[in-house]
Amino acid sequence: MALWAGRFSKEVDATVNAFNSSIAFDARMYAQDIRGSIAHATMLGDCGIIAKSESEAIVKGLQGILADIESGVLEFDPNAEDIHMFVEAELTKRLGDTGKRLHTARSRNDQVALDIRLYLRDEIDEIAKLVHELTGTLCDMAEQHTETVMPGYTHLQRAQPVTFAHHLLAYAQMLRRDLLRLHDVKERMNESPLGCGALAGTTYPIDRWQTARLLEFDRPTDNSLDGVSDRDFCVELCCALSLIMTHLSRFSEEIILWCSWEFKFVELDDAFATGSSIMPQKKNPDVTELIRGKTGRVNGDLMTLLSMLKGLPLAYNKDMQEDKEAIFDAIDNVKLCVKTFIPMLKTMRVLKDNMRKAAAGGFINATDCADYLVKNGMPFRDAYKITGTLVAQCIREGLTLETLPIAEYRKMSDLFNEDVYEAISLEHCLKERSSFGGPSPQAVAEQLEGLRYELEQINWWEWTEQV
Ligand code: ARG
Repeated sequence: MALWAGRFSKEVDATVNAFNSSIAFDARMYAQDIRGSIAHATMLGDCGIIAKSESEAIVKGLQGILADIESGVLEFDPNAEDIHMFVEAELTKRLGDTGKRLHTARSRNDQVALDIRLYLRDEIDEIAKLVHELTGTLCDMAEQHTETVMPGYTHLQRAQPVTFAHHLLAYAQMLRRDLLRLHDVKERMNESPLGCGALAGTTYPIDRWQTARLLEFDRPTDNSLDGVSDRDFCVELCCALSLIMTHLSRFSEEIILWCSWEFKFVELDDAFATGSSIMPQKKNPDVTELIRGKTGRVNGDLMTLLSMLKGLPLAYNKDMQEDKEAIFDAIDNVKLCVKTFIPMLKTMRVLKDNMRKAAAGGFINATDCADYLVKNGMPFRDAYKITGTLVAQCIREGLTLETLPIAEYRKMSDLFNEDVYEAISLEHCLKERSSFGGPSPQAVAEQLEGLRYELEQINWWEWTEQV
């Protein structure tokens, strides 16, 4: 029989019951639900709203339920409406009338708003640890490749020389910001909605600061309607997750290209690639393709959340139950992707010689050739034009700027001398790109040092309370 049987003359239709129920996906918040209830019951006892003895019995009862769920003795009832109803019903089964006192001065609306915050807060830490590890992995790899020359691209056309280290650290920087974003999301959502009640607070003398403290929130939310109504923190988190996926997806796309015979810059370990059912020669980068694919899915989760919220009048509406599958799906997929990505990167073979060969073609030193003239006194636009003409000549004659005879250079400008060959050598081009944040080995080493230092600081899950 339903909890609200007093008001109704019929049982809920079985189809509606199944349709309405969320236990299939919100059961994963059981630990958070119980933790919230323990804090609530403790506060009810301390404020004299229920007897101390009953509060203590409820806390013990809840701890027993938690232990039994964790040991597998207690299974979730698929007919329960949600995890909140399930735990409360189980408590009442165990304690009788005392169990019925737990829901005093509380609603499922503040309860669910609390549980989801508690749950996401823990998950944010888990995701951040993984992203942190991935960023560290990129730093380790970069350290090995500060001299590994490769072409940098724009429009997927060879553009200017960079190193593999510099390229890897570009992703490490994106992930560093992802970490900071996760941190911000967690900070902003760290207010307790418990005590907002259904929507309008309560007439009991509750202590919202106490429950907030017990549950390690910074403070209670200021407005009871807002506390139960918004899911902006789900949206923000999902947005941060979408960006993590976007970064992984761009990286994946590059790895897919690099694995092709057209590039052959890297080779995936056999354990992180798959074959074809028909073509014996194939080695496919499925992992990276799946990451690229799942990015669309996480973006979809973000749209689900935004669309779910956009037309809802205050306060709680059942539409909000749809928040969970979306945000859980995003969390699960991001964790899965990062967990797979790390060992895939660690075991990936970097084919330096092919990168270098690609860097030697495609005239990626043309800017440096123009800069040579500029450094000898010519205005940049003129130098640009002369170099463009020389490149066109090289293409016509099957030459490179390195193999073009000095006589040909001097036909275009007598500012050219033998030392132009040194100025356009790949090593020189790279070494000279030493502006702050640039790809020269020295600049990259400094970037790496800064990043490593920052990574040591952004590990908030290890920060201990400063008293
Ligand atoms: N299962 C619901 C959810 O996930 C819990 C809150 C239900 N509240 C209500 N008044 N029906 O949102």
